[in-house]
Amino acid sequence: MAANRNLATAVTTRSTASAPGNRPIRIGLLGCGTVGTGVVKLLRYNAEMLARKLDAPLQLIAVADRSLKPQPSLGLTRALIVRDPLELAARADIDIVVELLGGREPARTAILTALRNGKDVVTANKALLAEDGERIFHTAAEHGRSVGFEASVGGGVPIIRTLREALAGDRHRAVYGIVNGTCNYILTRMSEEGSDFGVVLKRAQRDGLAEADPTLDIEGHDAAHKLCLLVTLAFGVMLKPHQVYTEGISRIEPQDVACAKELGFAIKLLAIGKEEDGAVEARVHPTMIPSRHLLSDVRDAFNAIYVQSEALGSSMYFGLGAGQMPTASAVAADILELARRRVYDGRWAAHPLGYPMPAIRPARIKSMDDVVCEYYLRFMAADRPGVLGAIASLLGRRGISLASVIQRERSGASAVPVIMRTHEARERDLNLALKEIQKLSVVKARPVFIRIEEHL
Ligand SMILES: NC(=O)c1ccc[n+]([C@@H]2O[C@H](COP(=O)([O-])OP(=O)(O)OC[C@H]3O[C@@H](n4cnc5c(N)ncnc54)[C@H](OP(=O)(O)O)[C@@H]3O)[C@@H](O)[C@H]2O)c1
Repeated sequence: MAANRNLATAVTTRSTASAPGNRPIRIGLLGCGTVGTGVVKLLRYNAEMLARKLDAPLQLIAVADRSLKPQPSLGLTRALIVRDPLELAARADIDIVVELLGGREPARTAILTALRNGKDVVTANKALLAEDGERIFHTAAEHGRSVGFEASVGGGVPIIRTLREALAGDRHRAVYGIVNGTCNYILTRMSEEGSDFGVVLKRAQRDGLAEADPTLDIEGHDAAHKLCLLVTLAFGVMLKPHQVYTEGISRIEPQDVACAKELGFAIKLLAIGKEEDGAVEARVHPTMIPSRHLLSDVRDAFNAIYVQSEALGSSMYFGLGAGQMPTASAVAADILELARRRVYDGRWAAHPLGYPMPAIRPARIKSMDDVVCEYYLRFMAADRPGVLGAIASLLGRRGISLASVIQRERSGASAVPVIMRTHEARERDLNLALKEIQKLSVVKARPVFIRIEEHL
């Protein structure tokens, strides 16, 4: 929902775009299903922001999809749509090919054709990269082009870029990934409801959280594909899915989940990669982890990758590992990165802030008076009848309503704490109300208030 709100805001700001200085970067999209449609939305709704970051427009010039119908509200006109991905991959007027067909062929041939024709490629196709990555990355290197694949592991979680860039100076000991949302959802529900694997799987299928044929997910193969990519990035070795020990979650029974819980453990499907003395361990299987570990708190369809590095120590990357907009977010970031290389050639390093320097605007800071949030309030007040009412009425006069109140038992002390939690209120109103409350003779000390951010 939050993503939709942000997109709506972006639509309204689109008209303020200043003309970017460079020629458009032209994008050809192969496959406009779940993720492809999300990418079309981001390119359209975030057009002004992306152009400002790039100093050039990103222009979707063709979409290849066998079943797509025109959707004018997304700019998907009949003229934009073609049927053959291979034809599009070779077209001379395209700079970046975005492959979101899924499956092996024609995705593989389309990617190789695009690279050989001087295009950069973005893909979310982990199954293809795990099997054919070596060929694809070699072809990219031979032709001086690049492949963005951030969305292929962890969906919207930026783990590829993190391992490749942010953690590039460190040596990694291990990666532990909860990288299959379907399995994590099933195991979470089994643990929290005590339900059977089969029952939860059916519900997941009904709610669109599991495929009609869930084998790839529940038997661990999807996680193994992703582990191949994680291991390459973490340890610099090439790995094929058949080299990964792979065991799924279909044999997990509710009683094991319950016993694990009693012992202080959670059962998670982990993709584990380790390196010791030059030998790599790569396995995917149900694993018991202490329930106090951060990874235990990764619930339902969320993903997380926990990395142990020598210098940094432990770090964790968490978020939605699938879904239209989270995955599209990673694809859009890859498009922007590859477009930047084209626009700026070797000069992108001169823009370490993520925007060309002239595109960075002075900030318009919201005053604290206008900040709206919920508040925790504590008053030290005389232990007398009517105190609560007096405080609540002064808050009410400023439009501040109460979500809850705690008043301690009478203790004979001269002042007792009165604790209140407000609904959302404007800080200016709260400060005015507190000033008035402080003047009440029954209030014995300066009121304490703490801002609450419940919906992080
Ligand atoms: N969905 C996610 O949350 C997610 C998350 C991370 C990564 N990914 C990856 O992203 C990729 C796309 O996934 P998706 O969920 O968007 O798939 P999808 O909804 O099935 O979309 C694929 C689209 O490509 C079209 N297509 C497939 N083969 C074609 C061909 N030979 N010629 C023309 N059109 C063709 C399909 O048409 P038809 O409908 O007619 O088949 C469909 O419209 C996959 O590699 C997937 O693993 C997806």
